[in-house]
Amino acid sequence: MASSLCHSLVRHTKWGTFIEAEKRTLIKCDLLKLSIVSTEKKILRPFIRWAGGKQNLVSYLLSNLPPENCIAKYWEPFLGAGSLFFANGFKNAELSDVNEHLINAYKQIKKNPKSVYDRLLFHKRNFDKDYYYKIRESFNKHRSQNTIEQASRFIFLVHTSFNGIYRVNGKGEYNVPIGKMNPSLPTLEHLKQIASKLKTAKLNFKPYHNILSLVNQNDFIYLDPPYPKQDEKEPFQQFTIDKFSKKNQIELAEFANGLNDKGCDVMISNSNIPLIVELYRNWNIVEVPVIRYVSCKKQKIKLNELIIKNY
Ligand SMILES: C[S@@+](CC[C@H](N)C(=O)[O-])C[C@H]1O[C@@H](n2cnc3c(N)ncnc32)[C@H](O)[C@@H]1O
Repeated sequence: MASSLCHSLVRHTKWGTFIEAEKRTLIKCDLLKLSIVSTEKKILRPFIRWAGGKQNLVSYLLSNLPPENCIAKYWEPFLGAGSLFFANGFKNAELSDVNEHLINAYKQIKKNPKSVYDRLLFHKRNFDKDYYYKIRESFNKHRSQNTIEQASRFIFLVHTSFNGIYRVNGKGEYNVPIGKMNPSLPTLEHLKQIASKLKTAKLNFKPYHNILSLVNQNDFIYLDPPYPKQDEKEPFQQFTIDKFSKKNQIELAEFANGLNDKGCDVMISNSNIPLIVELYRNWNIVEVPVIRYVSCKKQKIKLNELIIKNY
């Protein structure tokens, strides 16, 4: 405790004055009384690698959260691999995404992590090139099914595919070729931890804008849309894998202002390009350093990305 205070920083916020000591240790200064409102937590990693995943930004996201006791409900409508949700573990949460297979995987893990694990183990034992393409074919054939078999095919494919990514063609068929021959699949312990964090969370397959009529004052919403490219001359020339265009970014900013008008706390992560800075010019913008791979090449570059808040 004493050592935490040595590294402390006083933060005056709309919720009161806090002493911020180390990561996520906020001590509320309630006149003469000091009370701990949130303490350091063990960080749980996602069970899947995901395009645009925020694992390498998570410590910045955690240190920019509103105080936990000021959050009525947590909403994450661009869930992906859920780096922030799993790192922090909000008790009352609504999580959603437009990727139905991803949401099905979460639902099946939440319901029965051991059965998902057993099926993954079966796939792993049989894994070779022919088996990979057989499972890919089966996954595409059954893609309207939200079953545990389909969830285990999805998790297996993402972990064994080239570069460990999820990508579909114009017909919605998974089309990534086989990757490493010695993949590491999630352990039973990891799946159980994921299931435990999801225990009190609601999971939905739906587009982000559907939550506007559902949120209430003092809810906290984290928005992590597919990013426009920052390392190219024209960020929207190439669509992202999720086809999130310039128009979509403008609509998202309108949506974020709608959340603000409803009295919600909102945090957004996004690309550091002039359009985004302009769209959120009245918000509180924090630049954070991050290392990313240049598209398709195995070359690392250092970038600044944005954490945008209305608090
Ligand atoms: C950048 S990723 C989120 C990454 C996540 N924060 C993480 O740490 O893994 C964006 C996610 O938004 C989803 N998405 C794209 N368009 C969407 C929409 N209109 N509504 C809801 N989700 C959408 C994609 O399926 C993808 O999972």
